Amino acid sequence: MRTSDIVEAPAAPRGILIVDLGAQYAQLIARRVREAGAWCEIAPPARALEVAKRMDLGGVILSGGPASVYAADAPKIDKAVLDLGVPVLGICYGMQWMCQALGGEVLGSDHREFGRTEIAIGDAKGLFEKIEPKTVVWMSHGDRVERLPQGFKRLAHSPTCPEAAVGDPKRGFYGVQFHPEVSHTRQGSQVLANFLYGICGMPGDWKPGSIVDREIARIRATVGDGEVVLGLSGGVDSSVAAVLLQRAIGDRLHCIFVDNGLLRLGEREAVEKTFREHFHMDLAVVDATDRFLASLAGVIDPETKRKRIGKDFVDVFQKEAQRFASAKFLAQGTLYPDVIESTNVHGGNTAVIKSHHNVGGLPESLHMTLVEPLRELFKDEVRAIGRHLGLDARIVDRQPFPGPGLAVRIVGEVTRERLDILRRADHIVTSEIERAGAHKGLWQYFAALLPVKSVGVMGDARTYESCCALRIVESQDGMTADWASLDRDLLARISNRIINEVRGFNRVVLDVSSKPPATIEWE
Ligand code: XMP
Repeated sequence: MRTSDIVEAPAAPRGILIVDLGAQYAQLIARRVREAGAWCEIAPPARALEVAKRMDLGGVILSGGPASVYAADAPKIDKAVLDLGVPVLGICYGMQWMCQALGGEVLGSDHREFGRTEIAIGDAKGLFEKIEPKTVVWMSHGDRVERLPQGFKRLAHSPTCPEAAVGDPKRGFYGVQFHPEVSHTRQGSQVLANFLYGICGMPGDWKPGSIVDREIARIRATVGDGEVVLGLSGGVDSSVAAVLLQRAIGDRLHCIFVDNGLLRLGEREAVEKTFREHFHMDLAVVDATDRFLASLAGVIDPETKRKRIGKDFVDVFQKEAQRFASAKFLAQGTLYPDVIESTNVHGGNTAVIKSHHNVGGLPESLHMTLVEPLRELFKDEVRAIGRHLGLDARIVDRQPFPGPGLAVRIVGEVTRERLDILRRADHIVTSEIERAGAHKGLWQYFAALLPVKSVGVMGDARTYESCCALRIVESQDGMTADWASLDRDLLARISNRIINEVRGFNRVVLDVSSKPPATIEWE
């Protein structure tokens, strides 16, 4: 493609604005809206109007939040969001704020409602189309709407919440006291779909195929006829970014894979096979094992390990990237949750712009322009477009693997020998769990090496070897996690195989700590 072929960045599709009124609700609503096939953006209340004005706006959703509308620290929303000429759905706190802003009254309630509740639908038109007359929803509120604003009527009630759903269909204003975005609300997706399609008339064009077309057009508009360097880790995000970029700019994409010697069994070979042999990408593999292991020699402190690995990575990547002197762009697999400004509990806005764990510091030192083709997407969408682009399920559905690799799964010094035994034990853990189909629903499942030597017996001989910890967790986002157990036979098989096949471990333990207070990794 020459400069003359440069494409204009595509206009954003018609979208829903989600105003984040605190806690974790807004992201979940956004994921549900996107799943339902509608584009949406999240903005904190202070920026809601500004964002609404640059969007092709189809409707507004006001999220739930932990504050009381009459509290001093309640998030402040400009009432002009109700004058944008589009339908508005207020959820929980969002409903209470809307009712109060339009002249209704909100009071603290004697009955806190928390958890599953059955509501009775009074008016099945519009928001409750196709919803059963009695349906289970998830409530979480203390306050309640006492007096409705003019023009509003009750649409649903529960035994303790007379105004469980309200609306003024003429103006397209609706409020629900329950949370349609959580899976415990049985027909929550249908309620959201009714709002998006029946009420806002959204086009339903947010599908993997159209996401790919849009991202490709955006990449082309940014990069023009330039060249791009991408650090490929073999994880979901960088893999999907690579395939998207290749679709957009072909062989002007150069991938660099740094083998830091801290990878899982067969990982480097799998990356080479997928990206070089299958996708025919220009892939440079740099074996920097010796350098990383030399930096880690004698290091026990986990933060020092991380710092050294981070620095080595930047140095190795930078040196390799210099080979592509004509490349002015650096691609990164940053996701939407990393760039969303979210509203904290006190109504203030916190910009949670995290630097990407694994390539932090690169753009500045390389003087390259960033290309982030996934920065408007959630992980579920990245996986969906990965599938659409023909990436193997083993990559698209793989468990997260940290940038510092097995170094954060070895307590104490990282040595070649320890890496070797951990790698073999970890392969047994993952392959047995996957073979049994037990990985579905798990966030991560792996082995960690504890440098605790203890006595064992093997045949007639005494052994004095390390301990292997099994870490198997369920989680939504890695921020909190619950330990998970496995079928006893499966655990027994994993344990037997590790002890019999991996010389260096004579004991296997199951980690039964949740996060917090523990962490997922063992460092
Ligand atoms: P912890 O151990 O803090 O981990 O409970 C939470 C989640 O983050 C992953 N993790 C990382 N991912 N680079 C990454 O890309 C890192 O440096 C890193 N450290 C931890 C971890 O695997 C878990 O899913």
